[in-house]
Amino acid sequence: THNRKFFVGGNWKMNGSTDSISDLVNSFNQGVMSQSVEVVIGAPYVYIPLLASTLRKDIAISAQNCFTKASGAYTGEISADMLKDVGATWVILGHSERRSIFKESDFFIAEKTKYALSVGLKVIFCCGESLEERESNNTMNVVERQLEALIATISPADYENVVIAYEPVWAIGTGKVASPEQAQEVHAHIRTFIKERVSSDVAQNIRIIYGGSVNEKNSNVTATQTDVDGFLVGGASLKPSFFEIVNV
Ligand code: G3P
Repeated sequence: THNRKFFVGGNWKMNGSTDSISDLVNSFNQGVMSQSVEVVIGAPYVYIPLLASTLRKDIAISAQNCFTKASGAYTGEISADMLKDVGATWVILGHSERRSIFKESDFFIAEKTKYALSVGLKVIFCCGESLEERESNNTMNVVERQLEALIATISPADYENVVIAYEPVWAIGTGKVASPEQAQEVHAHIRTFIKERVSSDVAQNIRIIYGGSVNEKNSNVTATQTDVDGFLVGGASLKPSFFEIVNV
């Protein structure tokens, strides 16, 4: 038996304004939330202090990226240390949008994960295949390659502070959610891979969450799959109905 607390993350991506976020925080703050779920909101950097001062304390704050140095001549970058300083306790790393639009490599993402963990942030580590990769039967190869970089870089003890988000690229923002069976198949594969490459203890305890067109209507069946330990929600986390997913 495992001890994996259900995890629901919201990834706001590059959305929101002071006004819209204040409204959403008001709504979330009034929502009834089961204590058996861990909830984390990934906000754009600049709104993290606003969340830190206004969001209920039983929802944690995440950034959506960070850099691998504490400070220095890295124009435009934000360090993991700074995120911690302003109230984030999590960071999303390796999102497919970072991988594809900003050309982040498996190695760079693994290095960022290692650094973020070293300063005490927890990490939502994203992986997932494109449509082309799925159609050429490379889903497991791609996910293994992305995880392999992580496994080569962090230590077994680090996984206590890592959540793996499986986000098939073809399901992100497309309205084409993976079927519960498709999600379960990859999640089970990831858990077995971690068992083989790290340890059965880590495999049993690590949370593997699904992301890609999750909403309050499709989350309930996927939530019951054996190896699905929660969700990473994009578009649907920008609405008050996000709480229906939290309470799924
Ligand atoms: O990180 C969450 C994400 O990529 C999924 O986005 O809008 O399809 O829920 P969305």
